[in-house]
Amino acid sequence: MRTTVGIIGGGPAGLLLARLLHRTGIDCVVLESRTRAYVEQRQRAGMLEQGTVDALRECGAADRLGAEGLTHHGIELRFDRERHRIDFPALTGGRTVTIYAQTEIVKDLVALQLAEGPPLLFEAEAIAVEKPESDSPVVRFLHEGREQTLSCAYVVGCDGSHGIAHDAFPAGASRTYAHDYPYSWLGILADVPPSCEELIYARGPGGFALHSMRSPSVSRLYVQVPNGTDADDWPDERIWDELDERFAIDGDWRLERGLITAKSVTPMRSYVHEPMSHGRLFLAGDAAHIVPPTGAKGLNLAVSDVRVLAHCFAEFHRTGSTRLLDRYSELCLNRVWQATRFSYDMTRMLHVHPGGDAFDSRIQLARLRRITASRHAAAELAANYTGLPLAL
Ligand code: FAD
Ligand code: DHB
Repeated sequence: MRTTVGIIGGGPAGLLLARLLHRTGIDCVVLESRTRAYVEQRQRAGMLEQGTVDALRECGAADRLGAEGLTHHGIELRFDRERHRIDFPALTGGRTVTIYAQTEIVKDLVALQLAEGPPLLFEAEAIAVEKPESDSPVVRFLHEGREQTLSCAYVVGCDGSHGIAHDAFPAGASRTYAHDYPYSWLGILADVPPSCEELIYARGPGGFALHSMRSPSVSRLYVQVPNGTDADDWPDERIWDELDERFAIDGDWRLERGLITAKSVTPMRSYVHEPMSHGRLFLAGDAAHIVPPTGAKGLNLAVSDVRVLAHCFAEFHRTGSTRLLDRYSELCLNRVWQATRFSYDMTRMLHVHPGGDAFDSRIQLARLRRITASRHAAAELAANYTGLPLAL
């Protein structure tokens, strides 16, 4: 098989890139190792920056997002039994965010791609990228019980944090930066209307908790748990009791309980792979960087990478010049590091550090008090949360 751009991975990054390239007239093929049902049901992100919504809208993939997405104008911070609202439009000159699940974005993009192209192969597992420095790199993959090859002009690894594309960087051609956090998130989906209109980020006595949502009848909640936690050790009542304690305020508010339909534990890690390209191989999304989920940057960064990359490919297609493609990594990395810093700061400010002492707690509270007392500090949080501009 032969194509111009071989894309490994049919998550949000790979699917959106395929859509953008297709609309520019650049042919590509997407190889996805899992089944369609699996990728459409993998519970993950839900908070979209305005730029992410704009990108989906511009490529004709936002019909359902427009009808079902929930526009949010702020978030609430809770600590010391107090609640404080951060008003995004007032602090950013009108920016908002949208709640719409990653599962739904993937469903929308898969449906469009299967209807309009380009080719999308499920259960097609890439096993190696060969000759990334040459004019014709090759992806070797397993599909329909045999090994096959995809010859490309360019290869893009959108294969997430456990993918194989980054293995094709020769030793010494790249460097990784990583940080592991000493806690994880236990996330649940519950059949109960959200107990809030906007997301709540809480620093409670026992640690962090987040109240998010998927729809007017489905809540999504997360609670900080120790690394190595087994979700089975958290019966439903224990989760609700812990959430109750972490969201508690002086005043009138109640967390509604409902049937928990999904439960999973996510460890937290920051990771950046530099540079994000080598020869004719590019990395985008979680294949190039991961952030802890606090602040909801992962999916949004994946989208901003592929917007930049699609723009670089479009210039190449139009003019034959690789001027922008050669700068892809540089064009992405500042924004990647800003999101890495923001996610790190939000995580450190809101989680109770195991083994931390009273001094650590006081510093966290001082950070939170600064944000809620200073318009300048709140505006800085709002600018990062709603999304920094692209370098293009
Ligand atoms: P992925 O979604 O990981 O997709 C990679 C794809 O490649 C997968 O489909 C995989 O099956 C496929 N693949 C892997 N290896 C191969 C191979 N060898 N061959 C072929 N295919 C392969 N981000 C936000 O922005 N907002 C949020 O609110 C948010 N909340 C989150 C909450 C949780 C609990 C978690 C875990 C993450 C959250 N994130 C959030 C992060 C977000 O989900 C990821 O950053 C996003 O999925 C990245 O998209 P991607 O396409 O780069 O990678
Ligand atoms: C969601 C996840 C996040 O990590 C976050 O910061 C906000 C929302 C969510 O899944 O809805």
